[in-house]
Amino acid sequence: MTPSTKPETFLLTSMLLCTLLGLGYPLSCEVCIRNGAKCTGVMKTCAQDEDSCISVMTETNNKGSVDVTSYKGCAKSSECDPEFLSITVAPENYMGSDTRCCQTDGCNHKPLPAIVRNHTENGLRCPSCITAFSETCTSTQEAVCVGEETHCVAVSGLAQPGIRFAARGCGTEAACHSKPGTLVPSGSRLLTIKKTSCRPSPQASGKAE
Ligand SMILES: *[C@@H]1O[C@H](CO)[C@@H](O)[C@H](O)[C@H]1NC(C)=O
Repeated sequence: MTPSTKPETFLLTSMLLCTLLGLGYPLSCEVCIRNGAKCTGVMKTCAQDEDSCISVMTETNNKGSVDVTSYKGCAKSSECDPEFLSITVAPENYMGSDTRCCQTDGCNHKPLPAIVRNHTENGLRCPSCITAFSETCTSTQEAVCVGEETHCVAVSGLAQPGIRFAARGCGTEAACHSKPGTLVPSGSRLLTIKKTSCRPSPQASGKAE
């Protein structure tokens, strides 16, 4: 029996092969980073292992100055979780971010809905600290948890290539599940979370650690 030589069959077979081997058509996504709730940019062809278009919006309060940053680009699906995370180090030092992914060309074009931070204190507290140039920090203060922040988290990562940061404070449960590689735009930079550890927050200010 000779293999079919019909062009359609050939096309179908090669498509199937490509799919099986993960050699799908490269995805293309909009790419931009900017201060503000919206950013638009050019389309970029993603790398072979990037199967998603990502949109991230972050609200950071750094010593009382609140910034919203938008980021769009190509991503691996492992970078798409968690969808929403919130970490509070102090009343004037917190971060909330909203991440969405999609898997078709240019699908990250639409702006994300605005981040609505829940400022209501929930009665929990966590040891807190933040530092640059280090992978750990020793808590010196206590953060007052708000909204859905029911866990004490410790995160560390890169503030930019080669520059480490570490923070502790209150976090949402989603913040506990942030995988290594989670991207968090902040100002015009992109933070990369490398490590997260987490435990339920003790009721009221009790034992730290
Ligand atoms: C805000 O957080 C408080 C404390 O956890 C909670 O009781 C309240 O339901 C939250 N509000 C919204 C709109 O989610």
